[in-house]
Amino acid sequence: MSDARGPASVTVMPTELASVETDVLAMPAFEDEHVKDGSRLAQVAGGEIARACATGEFRGKAFEFFFAPVAGADWRARRVVLVGAGQRRDFDADRARKVAAAVSIAVRERRLRRLAFVQEAATGDPRLPGSDAARWAQVISEGLTLGGYVDGRHKTADRPERTVTDMVIVVPGAGPDQLPVVSEAAARGRTLGHCTNLARELANEPGGMLTPRVLSERAADLLAGSGVTAEVLDEHAIAALGMGLLLGVARGSHEPPRLLVLRYEPADAPASPVLGLVGKGVTFDAGGISLKPARGMARMKDDMSGGAAVVCAMRAIGALKAGVRVVGVVPCAENMPGGGAIRPGDVLTGASGTTVEVVDTDAEGRLMLADALWYAQRLGVTHLVDVATLTGACRVALGRTTSGLMGRPAWWAAHVRDVADRAGDRSWILPLFEDYREQLRSDIADIANVGGRPAGAITGAMFLREFAGDLPWVHMDIAGTAWLDEAKPYAPKGPTGVAVRTLAELPFTRF
Ligand code: BES
Ligand code: MN
Ligand code: ZN
Repeated sequence: MSDARGPASVTVMPTELASVETDVLAMPAFEDEHVKDGSRLAQVAGGEIARACATGEFRGKAFEFFFAPVAGADWRARRVVLVGAGQRRDFDADRARKVAAAVSIAVRERRLRRLAFVQEAATGDPRLPGSDAARWAQVISEGLTLGGYVDGRHKTADRPERTVTDMVIVVPGAGPDQLPVVSEAAARGRTLGHCTNLARELANEPGGMLTPRVLSERAADLLAGSGVTAEVLDEHAIAALGMGLLLGVARGSHEPPRLLVLRYEPADAPASPVLGLVGKGVTFDAGGISLKPARGMARMKDDMSGGAAVVCAMRAIGALKAGVRVVGVVPCAENMPGGGAIRPGDVLTGASGTTVEVVDTDAEGRLMLADALWYAQRLGVTHLVDVATLTGACRVALGRTTSGLMGRPAWWAAHVRDVADRAGDRSWILPLFEDYREQLRSDIADIANVGGRPAGAITGAMFLREFAGDLPWVHMDIAGTAWLDEAKPYAPKGPTGVAVRTLAELPFTRF
């Protein structure tokens, strides 16, 4: 069975380009440098590259490719691909990651097996300080791995193949002092890319196959041997904890809910901080009695993307051996309109004792997350981050490339945003002004679960805030970013694995 997970490794070679034995040598080329003076690259393909640059066939625009056979007898690579990297001044970690992903996809689509990416061409001076070279190697390795994602598991014919098994980053001139650091960074990037791909694979799974029970089993399997323990609470344990909100959402489905509790507790970690990661695990969101329209409903199989991000980030955290304790909580349920379903207007009581008027059963994510946020506090976390495909309003506000980020205090929101930026998960902070709380007023309960159309992403976050206690807390709304409706040069259409790398990098930062 083919999996969706990309290459088994990304290794670093310190060799000269001519001696790299590979199917294709990928050389990033800048619009405003290499293409103007093709001198260094020109020799490789016996004049073909110089000609393509001179005629404008290849201009070096981002994600443009030019494949050419290698001509020189002293070169061991079979072909070379020039990879457009755009303007030098626009080249940052995000661009490097995407360029690497794009070439990885292009090479896979040509069914080649071995890919060598020339890092030096991207990062300039081969004698870069070790840490810089390592930083670039990590993001390039992330991109190469992300490009290996392809999901053909449920096809029996014309199954797309993951062909690129051998990925190499070439760093000519890397000395013996540099090589171990750069190699480790590449391995780290592979792990982060791989865990992102695992989350994409989960999010792509049909709702009927990935029920709450199956999701929790799959999570436990993914975490086996990673240094993270997985405990699965069933509907009885959930009831015993008084989680009326999570139970309420699950009532419309024949599938019982689950609460996934993941713990990473290295022996030498300090008692504090304890990072708490909470992810929405709605395995299918039909909307409940407040039924969604048919159009686009199929996509609601990915409403557990936040939960998948937590599970797969925990796997990376274990593999990369973070120095702090991390607890993951993923409430899993299916939101269906069965006969036992909660009705609009029903009042539910959460584990914290707060009563909620369910004005709209389609605002189910915040209900489940409320109980999960409460539970994470009971487990002793000191800092909270939740990730959820929470509101269509967030997609309207920020579009498809930027997640909404909300939280308090401001320094914690700013820190998480900064980490997300570096991880390649773009986000923007939305305000949580006290005024918005009014929209959630209920006539008969402590709070209503919806606040009307204005500022829908924010009122969703304001609801969650009520259940985060006094802890530093951030909410990432990934409704706009979890799924691509159209393929990009650097990513296929479908699940993106957003937030996995952000959550995985967080325990390696100071907070
Ligand atoms: N899972 C959806 C949010 C969503 C919408 C994710 C579109 C991805 C794409 C969520 O459970 C939901 O239905 N939210 C409602 C909230 C509303 C009832 C306040 C929404 O956005 O319409
Ligand atoms: Mn919903
Ligand atoms: Zn939902």
